Order: sequence, then structure tokens, then C-alpha cells
Amino acid sequence: MPTLHTMGQQQDRRSWAEPYKIKVVEPLRTTTRAERERAIVAAGYNTFLLRSADVYIDLLTDSGTSAMSDRQWAGMMVGDEAYAGSANYYRLEAAIQKYYGYQYIVPTHQGRGAENLLSQCAIKPGDHVPGNMYFTTTRYHQEHAGATFHDVIIDAAHDTSSLHPFKGDIDLDKLQALIDEVGADKIPYVCMAATVNMAGGQPISMGNARAVRALCDKYGIKIYLDATRAVENALFIQEREDGYADRTLAEILREFCGYSDGATMSGKKDHLVNIGGWLATNDPELFEEARNLVVVYEGLHTYGGMAGRDMEAMAIGIEESIEVDYMKSRVGQIRYLGELLDQWQIPFVKPVGGHAIFLDARAFYPHLQQDHFPAQTLAAELYLDSGIRSMERGIVSAGRNQLTGDHHRPKLELTRLTIPRRVYTQAHMDVVAESVKACYDHREAVTGLNMVYEPKYLRFFQARFERR
Ligand code: F0G
Repeated sequence: MPTLHTMGQQQDRRSWAEPYKIKVVEPLRTTTRAERERAIVAAGYNTFLLRSADVYIDLLTDSGTSAMSDRQWAGMMVGDEAYAGSANYYRLEAAIQKYYGYQYIVPTHQGRGAENLLSQCAIKPGDHVPGNMYFTTTRYHQEHAGATFHDVIIDAAHDTSSLHPFKGDIDLDKLQALIDEVGADKIPYVCMAATVNMAGGQPISMGNARAVRALCDKYGIKIYLDATRAVENALFIQEREDGYADRTLAEILREFCGYSDGATMSGKKDHLVNIGGWLATNDPELFEEARNLVVVYEGLHTYGGMAGRDMEAMAIGIEESIEVDYMKSRVGQIRYLGELLDQWQIPFVKPVGGHAIFLDARAFYPHLQQDHFPAQTLAAELYLDSGIRSMERGIVSAGRNQLTGDHHRPKLELTRLTIPRRVYTQAHMDVVAESVKACYDHREAVTGLNMVYEPKYLRFFQARFERR
């Protein structure tokens, strides 16, 4: 049993600890099983509909749930709350230009605000957008703008047991086949995510990004990066890809972003803040249009839905996220949880990704059909066991095919234990692992769920279920 925080390395090294100490605490509340039973029924067996006051350890998401540093909180006090031209905006713009290397920035309230702007500016009805797997809001905006989405990720990404070191890579043959089929003029851009959330937080290699760039250049196709967790991706490149062990995360990030024409960003992840995002581009025409459109949806082009203080905290968070000690502790904490689960042979996506453990609900409950929502069921069972909140990432999240009306049936039927940044300790990870084990031990008694209410858009957020 791993007793040290080994971060995936040999156990003969000295112990390691989080590179920060706690200055402010927020008490956690534990509940009884009877209280949790009432709460999950009231929430329609959907962890999104629980009240956070009823949750013990909240692993719903790593989005907007980070603990900010003392420097970031100090930055909040120098918020310049001007409607136009806030000093904090210019600090943020400079930080993005320095670390990500893009020329033009449009701030937004969060990632999906940027996805909306990019989709509206770049996509025409009838277009096709290839991507390395999908993210829910990203694909929604692409389809809403009239595009058809195509998954061009390598096959290994759909195999929970494959140990491929870069399961986020794009399959160049699949991309080439799509170009041949629909024509390059129908592909406004390739949507390249780093890391790939729905595949299990899996990274994409520098070599692959470079090769995708070369292929796209042949046809004049643009590449837009989903940079939401690109610094986490940079750590995997440093650890796993030949030639990058001695490069800094900042150097890796700059090179990586250099293979794209722009990016959408949810600052609520890598940037260590609770709200915010941006769209970046090197294309002056797209910038002009997005900078105009942002005033309709988000706010003026120098705040885009954020307060001045939010932009200041984000500018500081960008600098903190690129520090290698922080990033090793971030990814190392998730590896530690993976090592605990591994000793009990609990099925989850391997290798461990950057922001979460993704439990393999199909392997957990082989007796449940996908139509009885194994991953949704496991999320509810975990909550019932211990008050830990996780999230479904399977058939419910995948939604319905717009043409046939049937469920999308993803190969991956996963329950995500998402780790907020700088929030929980190693002891919390121990408690989480033990609760997963308790659910695993009782897996055969579980009968699944029926969906009794299905919302029209992004159904996983508000769908309701009953026990079968
Ligand atoms: N892209 C990726 C890869 C994401 O993980 C998210 C959000 C977004 C875009 C959208 O950003 O939430 O700021 O509008 N992911 C969250 C999650 C919601 O829990 O995985 P947003």
C-alpha cells in the first residue's frame, strides 16, 4: 500500500508534501446515511441537483473550485472596477500574451462564453468541426452554429485499459479521411483539446500537435486549442515526451500553443480562479468580429463579464499555474488516489489523467445496461455511502443525436472524481478511496436508474432519475 505521496515515482525516495500551507479553513459537514438518502432522492439521483451544504467532499468538478493564494486574494483588493479600460484587463492581456503567446485577447465570463464567440464567428451552417473527442459545451456551441462534430481522437482514447501515454492524440488518418470526404473549405478549424477531459484528462503530445499543424497547413485549415488544462498537459509532455525533460512548463506551453491559431479558455481550471475565461486568436479579422460580438453576450471587450478583481486574480493565477512544484503536486495528488484504488483492482481509466480519476462504471457494474445509466448510478451510490459528490460522464452527458433522436452511446461510461486545485489534502484522498472501495464491494446489489425528466439542452445538468 502506498503510504508516501510518491507521485508515481520509486518508493525509496523521501516523503513529499503539498508546496503550500493552509491559512484559512472552511469546515466540512458530515451527514447520516438517512440524511443522504433524503437528499439524493430530492435531487432526482443527479449530483448536480444536490445542495453543496449536504456534500462532504465535493469532487463534482475542478471548475471554479480552486483555492486562491494569498497573492491572488491581495490582487482582488487592487481591482480597478472601471467599466472600460480597467488596468486589470491590461495585466491579464499581458499575462496571456506572455505565457500562451497569442496576439489578440477577448475576455469572457467563462469558457463557454469564448466557445460561443468562436463558433459564431468561425462556423457557417453545413460546416464540419473535427476534434479530439468532445466537450459538452464546446460541441453544443459548434452544433448550435450549424456544424457537425467529428471525433478524430486515436482509438486508444476509447479503451479504458490502454496505457498509451498520450491518449489525447489526434488520429491523422481520421482527420485526413474527413478532409477527403467533406473538403477542406467545409472545415473552419480543428478543435484540439489539451488535456482531453472526456477521455479521462488524457494529454496530447507535442509531436502530435506539430503533425496536426503540418497537415492543416497543407489545406489551409485553422486550429483552435481548448487551452482549459493546457498547463497540466505541459507537465505530461515534460514527463513523458523525448526531448522535453529539461524544458520548463512555460517553454513547453509556448511551443504547444504555437501550433494553433488561437484558443478558448475556461480560466476556472488551470488559472486557479473561481470565474473567468477568454478567447485568443492571431487572426485580426476573427478578432475584430469577436471583439464586436462580445458586447452582445458578455460585456465590453475590456471585461467580458468579469469584474476587475477577477481579471487581476486570473493574471496572478496564470503565473502560479506554470510553477512546476505546484503542477507536480496537482497531478501527483490524483496519481496518489489512483495508486490507492489500484491496490483493490478498482476499474478506472489508465493512465491516471491530469484533473480527475474516471471510474469505469461499465466494468464496475457489468450487469447494468447502458440505458440504466451505470455512471449516474455509481455517482449516486458514492454520495449515499459517504457524502462524496462525483459526476456522470457517460451516456447522460453525451446527450442525443440531433438527427435520429436516439441517445449518443459513448464507449466510455465513466464516473468522475474531480480534484479541485489546492483544496483537499492527502487524508481526504484516503477517505475517498475507502468510499469507492465500499461501493465496489456492494456493486452486485445495485440495479440502476430510469430517467424520469430530460431537459432539452445539456441534459446531464438537470435530468432527474428514479431507482429501478
Ligand atoms: N472545455 C473543457 C475541456 C472543459 O472542461 C470545460 C468545462 C469547458 C471547456 C467549458 O468551460 O465551464 O468555464 O464554461 N468543464 C467543467 C467540468 C464544467 O466540470 O469539466 P466553462
